[in-house]
Amino acid sequence: METKEGSSGLRSGLTNYGDDEFSSFLRKAFIKGAGYTDDALNRRIIGIVDTRSGFNPCHANVPALVEATSRGVMLSGALPVPFPTISLHESFAHPTSMFLRNLMSMDAEEMIRAQPMDAVILIGGCDKTVPALLMGAISADIPAIQLVTGPMVTGNHRGTRVGACTDCRRYWGMHRAGEIDLEEIVSVGNELVPSAGTCGVMGTASTMACITEALGIAPLGSATAPANVSQRLRIAEITGKIATGSLPRPSEILTRKAFENAIILLQALGGSTNAVVHLLAMAGRVKGVNLTLDDFDRLGRTTPLLVDLKPSGQNYMEDLFKAGGVPVILRQLNLHFDILTVTGRTLGEELASWPTFDQTIVRPLGTYSSLIVLRGNLADSCILKQSAMDPRLKSHEGMACVFADLDDLIKRIDDPDLDVDEDSVLVLQNIGPVGNPGMPEAGYIPIPKKLAQRGVKDMLRISDGRMSGTAGGAVILHVTPEAAVGGVLAIVQDGDRIKLDVETRRLDLLVSSQEIATRLTAWRSGVRGYRGLYRRSVLQADKGADFDFLTGEAGLE
Ligand code: FES
Ligand code: MG
Repeated sequence: METKEGSSGLRSGLTNYGDDEFSSFLRKAFIKGAGYTDDALNRRIIGIVDTRSGFNPCHANVPALVEATSRGVMLSGALPVPFPTISLHESFAHPTSMFLRNLMSMDAEEMIRAQPMDAVILIGGCDKTVPALLMGAISADIPAIQLVTGPMVTGNHRGTRVGACTDCRRYWGMHRAGEIDLEEIVSVGNELVPSAGTCGVMGTASTMACITEALGIAPLGSATAPANVSQRLRIAEITGKIATGSLPRPSEILTRKAFENAIILLQALGGSTNAVVHLLAMAGRVKGVNLTLDDFDRLGRTTPLLVDLKPSGQNYMEDLFKAGGVPVILRQLNLHFDILTVTGRTLGEELASWPTFDQTIVRPLGTYSSLIVLRGNLADSCILKQSAMDPRLKSHEGMACVFADLDDLIKRIDDPDLDVDEDSVLVLQNIGPVGNPGMPEAGYIPIPKKLAQRGVKDMLRISDGRMSGTAGGAVILHVTPEAAVGGVLAIVQDGDRIKLDVETRRLDLLVSSQEIATRLTAWRSGVRGYRGLYRRSVLQADKGADFDFLTGEAGLE
C-alpha cells in the first residue's frame, strides 16, 4: 500500500515520476489550470468525496454539503478539493445496490489513495454508501471523517404522517389486500418522499448513520439532522473544520471496542439487519478486529431497545433529531466511552458537553435482543429482527411452502390454489450472495394475496437473502450456508415442518438427519441447465476457462 509522503511531510506533496521536483512542478502546473494561487496550493489538502447524482435523491443535498464542508475547511486555513465517486440509490442500482457496494468501496479506496489529499471527508447517506465509503477509507487508511446527507422529512397523506419506506410497504400491502384503491396509492406516492435525504425511518441508511457516531468516525450529534434543515449545513461546516485538525486514521478509530459500541447501538436502535453484513465487512478490513455473529447476539442480550422509531416503533428520524439525536441514546448504553473519535477526544469527553432533552422517543421499550442470531440444522447461522415481528410467531412450528427462486416466488405467491395458510412457513431459496449476486432484499416475502385479503399481517419467512431495513415481520434472513452452495435450505421441500424458537435461538427442519443427508447427496445446484453446469465447473482464465471435467487426454473410446 502507498503510504509514502512527499518532502513536505504531507500526502499532498506526494510525487510519483521518479524525479520528485519535476513531478511537483508538473502537478502544480496542471492544478493551476483550475485557477488556484500558490498560497492555496501550499495548504493542507482535504479531499471531499462528492456522491451527487441525478439518479440519487437521497443525495440531492450533496452540492450544498460540499459547499458547507469546503467553507469549514477554508475557515481553518486548508484547501478543499471535491472529487466524485460512483453514486448508489436503492431504487436505481440494478440488479441491487448491494451488488455494487463492493465496487463503490473499491472506487472510494483507489481514488483516495491515488489523489494527493492529506485527509478525506466522506459525504453520502443512501443505504450502501456509508458502508462502501467507510470500507474504502479503511483500506486506504488516510485520516477520514464521515458526513451523512441526513434523513428526509415526513409527508402528509390525508392527515396521516407518512415516510419512506416503512409506509411505502404498509400502503402497498393495503393496496394488495384491496383496502385502498389505485387513486389512493398514486396519491400517497406523492408524499412518501417529500424531500431530499435518506429514508426517514430506522432503515439501513439511518442505522448506518447513527452507527457512525458510535464508532467515533463522525462528529457526535451529526446523524439525525434532516437533509433540508440549516443544522445539516452547520454540521457540514463543522465537519470541514474537524477534518483540518489532527484527524486520526480509520485504523486508529475503528478498533474492536468501536465495533462493539456500534453493535450495542444497533441493538438499542432496533436497527437494520443489513447493518450486520456491513459491520462484518468493515471489520473484516481492519487488522485485529475479528468480529463475528456471536458478538451481535451476545451484546444484544444485555442491550435494551431504546428508540421508538419505525419499523420497530412508531416515530421518524426527524423526531429523534428533535429529541436530541444519537448522543441521548449513547448516554444510556453500556459502551466503551474511552474510544477515540474524529476530534481527537474520547466519546465520553464528547458526550459530556451534549445537552439533555425531555424524552418521548428515547426510552426503554421493555425488549432486549432486537437482532438475534439463530442456529440449527437448517442454518449454521441466520438472523432475525425479533423486535419487529408478531410475538405469536416467536415459538412456532409450521409447514414449509417453498419457492425455488425469485421468479418462482413472483409466479406463484398469489396463486389462489397455493397450499398455504397463516401458520405455514414461507421459504425462499437461491437469493444468497452466490445464488443471486447482490443478495437482493427479497427476504421480505409478501404475504400471499389470499391470506392478506383475510387480514393476515405476518407469517414466518425464511431465506438466504436480505431485507430492507425499513421492513419488519417474522423474517429470517442471511441463512448460511446458502442454498446455491448446497446448504440445507436447498433441500427443504413443500410440506416439511420447520420449527423456530426465539428463546433458545433455534431454527430446525424437522426432518431426520438421515433424510437430510440423502437429499443433500441428490441435490444439484439451484441454477439448472448449462448455466448451472458452467458455474460449478469452469476453470480460471489462466487455465483457459475450460471445464474441469473436459481437460486431459481423451481420444476415441
Ligand atoms: Fe436511499 Fe432509502 S432509498 S436511504
Ligand atoms: Mg433500504
